[in-house]
Amino acid sequence: MVKKKGITDFIRMKEENRPVTWITAYDYPVASFAERAGIDMILVGDSLGMVVLGYDKTNPVTMEDCLSHCQAVRRGAPNTWVVGDMPFMSYQVSDEKAIYNAGRFIKEADVDCIKLEGGVRVAPRIRAIVDAGVPVIGHIGLTPQSSGQLGGFKAQGRDVKSARALLGDALAVQEAGAYSILVEAIPPELTAYIRKLLTIPVYGIGAGPADGQLVICSDMLGLFQAFTPKFVKQYANVAEIETEAIKSYIREVKEGIFPTDDHVYHVSEPLEEFEKMFQEFIEP
Ligand code: KIV
Repeated sequence: MVKKKGITDFIRMKEENRPVTWITAYDYPVASFAERAGIDMILVGDSLGMVVLGYDKTNPVTMEDCLSHCQAVRRGAPNTWVVGDMPFMSYQVSDEKAIYNAGRFIKEADVDCIKLEGGVRVAPRIRAIVDAGVPVIGHIGLTPQSSGQLGGFKAQGRDVKSARALLGDALAVQEAGAYSILVEAIPPELTAYIRKLLTIPVYGIGAGPADGQLVICSDMLGLFQAFTPKFVKQYANVAEIETEAIKSYIREVKEGIFPTDDHVYHVSEPLEEFEKMFQEFIEP
């Protein structure tokens, strides 16, 4: 059985310059495969809206969606640090609502911590949730819930003005008490500087070398077909494997190849008894 890692392990890993491996999962099977493979952390991202539920953005995702997927992931990966992602409008409205919803992730889905998007403007929410006893990971850079304001799913911090704003966001997240921060789709030069500026672990997705890497399972497994960001490395083409398998099934059913005698449960009493009983139905 794998030993579940926690915050002290992640801080030690940063000190020892050993990168944390982090992947999203949304269901029991992928969570169990990730745990079996030896992943350090799992994020049940609100990206589930796009890669599992078929929306074109993450904003429609509800607390109920997130909780139910977190519960499945927890069942699949009981010995892995699981991060619940707070969906749009579950923390923006007030500190009270943010604490209440963060608490639901802990109480109802047994996750280990929560993640929320934003820097300076959500710092008070981070402080409120941390003060309520829930560990928080911040998330800055390309923040999909506010992609409308950012001009779409675009890299951030590529010019001096926006990089300066992101440094302010990173500091605000740390000062508010987040134990680590995720930076998404920012230049590696900026990631390197944020790592120097902060004392907490800095994890990246599409942000170059960092204290740990996050990947969306559906991207790296080749399951999400709508688009593939430049920063994705695809390690398998599961969509192709699944499509080919379903095509083979269709062909074999049509051609009478499946099912064979290997795929049935034969009767457990003499066939004559069954034939007698069938006759009774036909000629009562
Ligand atoms: O929801 C998610 O998977 C995320 C990543 C895109 C960072 O927040």
